Amino acid sequence: MPYTDGEGELPDEGMDFYDDIQDLDLTGKVFGVTGSGDTFYGDDYCKAVTYFDKQIAGTGATRGAEPLFINLQADDEDKKHLDAFTDSLLKSVSQGA
Ligand SMILES: Cc1cc2nc3c(=O)[nH]c(=O)nc-3n(C[C@H](O)[C@H](O)[C@H](O)COP(=O)(O)O)c2cc1C
Repeated sequence: MPYTDGEGELPDEGMDFYDDIQDLDLTGKVFGVTGSGDTFYGDDYCKAVTYFDKQIAGTGATRGAEPLFINLQADDEDKKHLDAFTDSLLKSVSQGA
């Protein structure tokens, strides 16, 4: 669940994790990425979520939910989206990915 820093950049503390992912084979695993950003940043909004989503997809894992962007603090609408995100992941897991 990364936030986005700089101008559409990964957070510093997530860099090593991001790099390490490319060496993994996660075939048969289910994943989904969500994270916060700020729509103020326009085209760079929640870019780190998109980067992680693509990076993990490259491991052979199954995307169990579409990437979910949260603008600043999660509001009630975001919480509904997070519930749907979780349900989607669980459904994928129960279907054996
Ligand atoms: C220096 C700085 C750069 C940021 N750059 C981006 C950005 O490029 N894209 C984005 O969506 N959010 C950006 N943000 C917003 C943070 O991701 C946002 O504050 C955070 O996701 C919301 O969490 P918080 O409530 O902990 O601040 C930036 C924030 C700061 C302070």
